Amino acid sequence: MDATTLPEDTAGPRTGDAAGAAPRLTVIGTGYLGATHAVCMAALGFDVLGVDVDPVKIERLNAGEVPFFEPGLPELLVKALDSGRLRFTTGFEEAAEFGDVHFICVGTPQQQDSDAADLRYVDAAVTELARHLRRRALVVGKSTVPVGTAARLTELVQRLAPAGTEVELAWNPEFLREGYAVDDTLRPDRLVFGTASARAEEQLRAAFAPVIARGTPVVVTDLTTAELVKVAANSFLATKISYINAMAEVCEATGGDVTGLAEALAYDDRIGGRFLKPGLGFGGGCLPKDIRAFAHRAEELGVGQAVGFLRQVDDINKRRRARTVDLVRELAGGDLTGVRVTALGAAFKPNSDDIRDAPALDVASTLHRLGAHVTVVDPAATENARRSHPQLDYGTDAISAAAGADVVVLLTEWNEFRQTAPEAMGAVVNHRRIVDGRHALDPARWRAAGWEYRALGRP
Ligand code: UDX
Repeated sequence: MDATTLPEDTAGPRTGDAAGAAPRLTVIGTGYLGATHAVCMAALGFDVLGVDVDPVKIERLNAGEVPFFEPGLPELLVKALDSGRLRFTTGFEEAAEFGDVHFICVGTPQQQDSDAADLRYVDAAVTELARHLRRRALVVGKSTVPVGTAARLTELVQRLAPAGTEVELAWNPEFLREGYAVDDTLRPDRLVFGTASARAEEQLRAAFAPVIARGTPVVVTDLTTAELVKVAANSFLATKISYINAMAEVCEATGGDVTGLAEALAYDDRIGGRFLKPGLGFGGGCLPKDIRAFAHRAEELGVGQAVGFLRQVDDINKRRRARTVDLVRELAGGDLTGVRVTALGAAFKPNSDDIRDAPALDVASTLHRLGAHVTVVDPAATENARRSHPQLDYGTDAISAAAGADVVVLLTEWNEFRQTAPEAMGAVVNHRRIVDGRHALDPARWRAAGWEYRALGRP
């Protein structure tokens, strides 16, 4: 079922704190996670107030404009605003008065000079909200945090809130993927409720009633375990990607083909083929910083050894970027000075405009630093990339950007790059040389069109 064809008012029309009524929700932080959560909860029939400290963001959201690229979300935002069930504000006092359940959805980026997570936004949001909480409420953390944060925040909230221990705290980690955020929110594969009381669990069940009614499994656990579930899940996914990329390194040294290897492994359903795609590796606002923060936190707790492998997972991932640069240099004849490179992709993955820790931009800027003239093309992330990497040139589409290129390198597997005809691109480049950083192209087809084709982990 399409997200926009959801049954309306699934949660029922009654709202408020009365027993049995659907709780009124606030969502604090309106980034990828929060904006999607707010819109989807309103689409499910709840009354929702989105809160952010950035007045520009709030203005845009109230005007029906999603400030980032996420398929399906703009349509659903307009629908939710039209229904009257969704509004956005910068007022924390208003939010505290409005909400029965408050979702904390602010970012936890990596600290500047450390692998640890930066909790300043979580602390600020919780502090600001708590100061105005004069009635019974449940504060629910969704942000990814170091284990132990929920216990600390419980103490903080109950100390600062005028309503004291009438305010409880719960943890409900979020597993949405960018590009599929709407579907992942409306139809998650599981819900995890970290709670400290029966009442908190009851409130969470009420806040997710339409999702639970669809048969979504619910795991109810303590606060600590709920915090750990998220970092454990992301660590596993990162490890799986780095595992196959480690095999790619071995293939490179031995003449094996990692794509055949991955395919053969995937038929074993104990292993499975998802997140076993070799290539340039993982990036984005979650996986890289989450494994680093987890390793850091484990070291603080004296169990660093247990997750020491995450350092290697990170190192394998970084080496894929360096190796991609090497392949481009090899194709260019050993020296990048003055070489014209067309980089297909800037976003950390397709269907996203997110460039946080994007492998694509890392490779493009390294090539530039080594003397190449780099032109980057991306269907959605160009504006963000231009802002953070003004030293690079930007094109509008793959073919025109490839005009005169000495080497083309595919870095983000957008569909439109996959579908590029090697003959059409071959007609405009200076040399038919391509590095396929994502195993997204058919080598036979490109070679037949006269291209020198190279990919990580393949002969
Ligand atoms: C991830 C988790 O999947 C999600 O559950 C969590 O809530 C947030 O972090 P996201 O960052 O949106 O989601 O991206 P995801 O689709 O998981 O991809 C992460 C990175 O891994 C991308 O850079 C992607 O290109 C890369 N990847 C993924 C691979 O290199 N190989 C694969 O097989 C899969």
